[in-house]
Amino acid sequence: MNKKILITGGTGYIGSHTIVQLIENGYDVISIDNYINSSDKPLKSIEAITKKSIPNYVVDLCERDAVDEVFQQHRDIVGVIHFAALKAVGESVEKPLLYYRNNITGLINLLELCRKYQIANFIFSSSCSVYGNVDSLPVTEDTPISQAESPYAHTKQIGEDIVRNALKGTGIHSILLRYFNPSGAHPSGLMGESPIVPAHNLVPVITELAAGIRTELTVFGTDYDTRDGSCIRDYIHVVDLANAHVKAMDFMMAGQQKQDTEVFNLGIGQGVSVLEAIAAFEEISNIKLNITLGPRREGDVIAVYADYSKAKQELGWVPQYSIQDIMKTAWAWQQKRVDNHPLT
Ligand code: UD1
Repeated sequence: MNKKILITGGTGYIGSHTIVQLIENGYDVISIDNYINSSDKPLKSIEAITKKSIPNYVVDLCERDAVDEVFQQHRDIVGVIHFAALKAVGESVEKPLLYYRNNITGLINLLELCRKYQIANFIFSSSCSVYGNVDSLPVTEDTPISQAESPYAHTKQIGEDIVRNALKGTGIHSILLRYFNPSGAHPSGLMGESPIVPAHNLVPVITELAAGIRTELTVFGTDYDTRDGSCIRDYIHVVDLANAHVKAMDFMMAGQQKQDTEVFNLGIGQGVSVLEAIAAFEEISNIKLNITLGPRREGDVIAVYADYSKAKQELGWVPQYSIQDIMKTAWAWQQKRVDNHPLT
């Protein structure tokens, strides 16, 4: 059976790890990525790990005709996984229209082409940020969606609605995957998060501080109503997350999906505070971090962690990695980057 999947954002952090897991599970992959926040280096890492090279089309999804050409060249695509998007919460507060233009226009173009070419299976990278500040934890897929705390989160809420409405009754199935906090690196040490812009997510900020690439780490808020005053998140290893995409695509391709659109939470079900995450890193690395306790960051939710039982029951997905594994693999990757690893 033909299993060619188009990945948008294939050189990004989650996209590149998902490509590896797809290849290892018998899928063919092509990628579209304009390198807005990445480079071609992850393609070399993918090749080093899987011994397969995959083509990447350097195309902006906002350029509909250029994307159409990729679909025309690959008439055998059976599924699309749409990762490509801007994703910095703080930046989205400063530049909301950039986020709306990029994340929404790209999605609309892609969905138009999926309809035009009748691509049967569509997976959308969504985020737990769609839930906003929640009244009860853990979060299930039925937890009400409340007001988005940032334009980034709003683009994910709108994106989910657009996918649902655009594909309804078309015969194209869609899955919305709500990621909690993706982190960690490939256990081979050959691939991890490599942001071009300065890192803003907690785990790379921690490892960059430990490596001496940055001089400080500010804990954004220590007066929240949580067990130690800092925000609580559900950190999920990027390889667990990548495997969930394979399971979701398998599920769709096997015709197991009953609804037009299905939603799954992807987290490990454990809340970890910012201070606990820092302590976990210090323990595995034996490095004491010089941190600053600072004010809250605009756009942050207080506490969020997942109930992933729906993904377990329907997709057969169970996360394997802990916060310690996340810190170990992220730190191993960071050290290789610093040591001028050939693939970085
Ligand atoms: C958010 C989304 C997540 C999305 C991600 C993309 C929520 C709940 N989650 O993650 O789904 O994938 O954006 O970027 O909205 N922190 C510090 N100091 C730092 C950096 C971070 O204290 O220098 C704190 C933050 O305030 C937060 C936690 O660490 O409490 C995690 O932050 P970050 O890694 O940026 O991810 P989120 O914003 O939670």
